[in-house]
Amino acid sequence: MTLRAIRILKKADVVFYDRLVNPEILKYVVRAKKVFVGKSAGESSKQQWINRALYREAKKGKTVVRLKNGDPMVFGRGGEELEYLRTRGIEVEVIPGLTSAIAVPGLERIPLTHRKLSSSLTIVSGRGVGGSVPRWKSLGDTVVILMPIENLSSVVRRLLSSGKRKQTPCALISKGSRIDRKIIVSDLQHVVDFSRTVGISPPAVLVVGEVVRSLLDWRGRRVAAFRCRSEVRRTKKLIKAAGGRPMVFEVCKTIPAQENLAKAASQRWDTLVFMSANGVRSAADFFELSKYRVIAVGGRTREELLKHGATKILVPEVHGVAGVQKLLKNGRFGRVLAFRSPLAKRKIRGAVNLVAYHVKLTRPERAVKEYLRSGSDFTILTSAGLLELVLKSVGKASPKLVRKMNESFVISLGREVTKAALRSEIWVNYEAEKPCLKTLFSLR
Ligand SMILES: C[S@@+](CC[C@H](N)C(=O)[O-])C[C@H]1O[C@@H](n2cnc3c(N)ncnc32)[C@H](O)[C@@H]1O
Repeated sequence: MTLRAIRILKKADVVFYDRLVNPEILKYVVRAKKVFVGKSAGESSKQQWINRALYREAKKGKTVVRLKNGDPMVFGRGGEELEYLRTRGIEVEVIPGLTSAIAVPGLERIPLTHRKLSSSLTIVSGRGVGGSVPRWKSLGDTVVILMPIENLSSVVRRLLSSGKRKQTPCALISKGSRIDRKIIVSDLQHVVDFSRTVGISPPAVLVVGEVVRSLLDWRGRRVAAFRCRSEVRRTKKLIKAAGGRPMVFEVCKTIPAQENLAKAASQRWDTLVFMSANGVRSAADFFELSKYRVIAVGGRTREELLKHGATKILVPEVHGVAGVQKLLKNGRFGRVLAFRSPLAKRKIRGAVNLVAYHVKLTRPERAVKEYLRSGSDFTILTSAGLLELVLKSVGKASPKLVRKMNESFVISLGREVTKAALRSEIWVNYEAEKPCLKTLFSLR
């Protein structure tokens, strides 16, 4: 707010205020009568009533304030009210505010223009007269959409048909500046699905353009992850290579499930399925991997398989259990053995599921304590099972851990991890398309 707005609010006789006006601001109204005139969507007939009421009070010679959120002249009907009053001979002063279109992205540290990325900015509405998406003409490098939620899929379709690429990054920010503010970062092809999964509610702004990528800039930032012993070194290395400051905490180690593996190795299999590098390492002493056709989930698993001599490797297009199942259903793979984690949530249909290793906790309380003490800018959640294990193992400290995670920008490596996080009330800000840290850290 400007100082002028505060001064006028203090001396007003009547204040007509909207739904989105922050109650904190009403504290400046010390003597005036406060009249709530907030409209719900589709209640536009109320506007005539508001116009008349403003006129009536002003005509009595009172100082009337029409208090709106953001800037009154940006999608706020300021122009219509001004016109109504001026044509009836009422003096009107406009006191500009901070429009949510600019202030909300700013609070999230998203630059709307940037010398290298964006030299133009367009602010549009996602809701036109009658409720449909307006036909915007040419769009700038950065586009900010107000009222985007109600028509989100149509808004995205229109952005795409207006020339934006489906990989264009975007951020959806709900309740900016408030204590319950939420933000998700995605791209145009995934934002609708992701926003439905996490559940974003209005008021929100959608920011579209390369400038949003700055939210995934690791340089100089603290990047935390809870990992199995075998992955700690590699994770640190990847974070460092991306310019981040690694805070990688070991919380468990894996031990090959020797009995299971020995028994399975004595049988005939045509295809082996590996969901993680841990599975590969556990199986490597029991199976001659070059002899089998192998299905690998994710680039990291494939890397580990190559190290252990596998050659006939297939990587499903879709990640996770769903991708493997789809592949198995559509091909001829004979007898299939899937090496699984004891923390796995879903079985793979069409394969024998074998617990390939045991997970032993290595004092996660210590790791959590350190994380709580130092905090982080990013928290990367790599596995649903591991997340649940860590939360369970710290018992009473788990609400604190959840709170601390929510203070950082939380990244999940896939839908299953996102769902597990949401079940534990951890808000996910970004969901990686592939469960692969290497791809994640090459995003910028
Ligand atoms: C009717 S428009 C009013 C815009 C207002 N005049 C301005 O300049 O911000 C209401 C829209 O503003 C945006 N908005 C207002 N407050 C917001 C907030 N705190 N966080 C996110 N979006 C907000 C949302 O897009 C919402 O649907």
